[in-house]
Amino acid sequence: MEEKETMREKIRRGWEQTSAFYGNECPQVFSRFAERLVRLMDWKPGQVVLDVGTGTGLVAIHVSDEVVPGGWVVATDFAWGMLQRLRRSEAKEIKTLLLAQMDAEFLAFAEASFDCVTCAFSLFQFVDMSRALSEMHRALKAGGQIGLSNWATGFFTPVATMQRSLFREFGLRPLLPNPIAFAPEQIEALMEQSGFVSVRSLVEPVELCFDSPQEIWEWNLAMGPFSIMLEQQLTPERQEELRNRYIEMLQPLMTPKGIPCTFYPLYTLACKA
Ligand SMILES: C[S@@+](CC[C@H](N)C(=O)[O-])C[C@H]1O[C@@H](n2cnc3c(N)ncnc32)[C@H](O)[C@@H]1O
Repeated sequence: MEEKETMREKIRRGWEQTSAFYGNECPQVFSRFAERLVRLMDWKPGQVVLDVGTGTGLVAIHVSDEVVPGGWVVATDFAWGMLQRLRRSEAKEIKTLLLAQMDAEFLAFAEASFDCVTCAFSLFQFVDMSRALSEMHRALKAGGQIGLSNWATGFFTPVATMQRSLFREFGLRPLLPNPIAFAPEQIEALMEQSGFVSVRSLVEPVELCFDSPQEIWEWNLAMGPFSIMLEQQLTPERQEELRNRYIEMLQPLMTPKGIPCTFYPLYTLACKA
């Protein structure tokens, strides 16, 4: 396994590269799930909230509506490009949203600074997930709540299983040892090990359609580590070959409404004692 520092830098570079088009795809998968995570949590005006791995700020923007008047949301990400996207979006009008470039494993906040922490579809991207969870626990006030979203086993069916075997055939190796999808008990155990209490999870499968095989390919490409895996592990010719095989493989799944996929988001809520 590579040195953690080298790996962090590679992954950050991947997210920087893909930040220009992250989240542009249809269906707006992460936008839906961000809204749902926010709905599942309890909000009060005046709360101070930390969003970790904010990306283009989908969760942070929704939360900022929930904590007015008097509340603040601090949106953090280690990719500058993501924060730039957020800064240039509708969010520039939100006076209670602060942006900070920061690694989730090294949060630059004093202990017990936040009433709530959110982290959507980012945990498995962190080189050391336990370290990041311990940092979120440290930054949370006693009695504060945390809400995470991740992929549950099932990820996005049927495409995930098909693409996994094609990627394996091309010899692609994941950059990180972390699982991409989790059983609820796995996440719950990780959270309990990091000191969280009252941990509970919910899996809510939802069917959404991609317009075309190309769109699913682009969705993968918008995930930072995937673009780095391609760049490092395949020649440009093999990348092109993989893309063509991918499109060909998914073509038979096309229906008049597009390619239906069942997504399995896993929401986990917990508190700090
Ligand atoms: C799949 S995106 C999710 C973004 C957003 N939360 C959402 O729901 O759309 C993962 C995000 O985690 C960020 N990220 C990955 N590793 C990170 C780390 N170690 N520290 C901070 N941010 C990180 C990436 O830059 C990216 O914006």
